[in-house]
Amino acid sequence: MDIAIARADGILEIAFDRPQKKNAITAAMYEAAAQALREAERDDTVRVVLFHGNGDSFSAGNDLEDFAANPPARAEAPVFAFLDAAARAVKPYVAAVHGSAVGIGTTLLLHCDLVSAAEDTRFALPFTRLGLVPEFASSYLLPLVAGYQRAAELLLLAEPFDARKAHEAGFVTRIVPPGEVLAVAREAARKLAALPPKSIQRTKMLMKKPHAAAVQSQMAMEAEYFRPMLAEPAARAALEAFLARRKL
Ligand code: COA
Repeated sequence: MDIAIARADGILEIAFDRPQKKNAITAAMYEAAAQALREAERDDTVRVVLFHGNGDSFSAGNDLEDFAANPPARAEAPVFAFLDAAARAVKPYVAAVHGSAVGIGTTLLLHCDLVSAAEDTRFALPFTRLGLVPEFASSYLLPLVAGYQRAAELLLLAEPFDARKAHEAGFVTRIVPPGEVLAVAREAARKLAALPPKSIQRTKMLMKKPHAAAVQSQMAMEAEYFRPMLAEPAARAALEAFLARRKL
């Protein structure tokens, strides 16, 4: 399924496991990950969710080939189920990021609580370059954590940026040497899992609650723009250019 799920000592690890494609996420992967997140919320033995990527990258974001072939036309599409499950989570999320973290590979981090990034991570929020708009409430959450102008630079210019800039923007909590990121994130997850779950979950919920309604309405508005824009000339040209590059 290209998603590897492991569970031990109260920690549910969800690994993007499609290294040959830089862990680009297909509809089937969104579906598997969404199901794992919903189950994690229900399962009392799961205290923490940890995201990471197998191979040399965290994730290159939406699989552009899959997106072009099967655009997520309905609100029930797997990608939206994943966004909804992650945005509503009460259990704490930890992420270990390295290599490429593009699109949802970056916007997912805005929904995580502790994010460790390898020094050499390359982030990107390429939505405007793809003729699209941001997703996952990043158009709300990034200005909130980074400040408006910092968010505007990243979301409007859409240029790749490094771990230092992501740390300054506020959504990376620790920068670590390459090769150590998963161990550091696992240690953070272990610490969270050792604390009283009710306190952890209620503290997270209390921090998230003031923004919960805004996050939901922003995701709905982003999706309302995103879906039709996928079929418009700017996005089609960008997707075709990416696919043509592959064929060369
Ligand atoms: N969707 C589908 N396939 C993807 C992909 C994506 N988002 N990102 C990478 N891949 C595939 C490449 O097509 C290539 O496949 P191939 O070997 O069959 O040709 C393989 O993964 C390796 O990628 P490559 O581009 O050769 O690696 P790189 O190290 O030179 O660059 C990225 C890595 C992530 C910077 C680059 O692949 C990229 O920009 N991808 C698109 C990211 C994107 O726009 N995501 C959508 C966000 S909404």
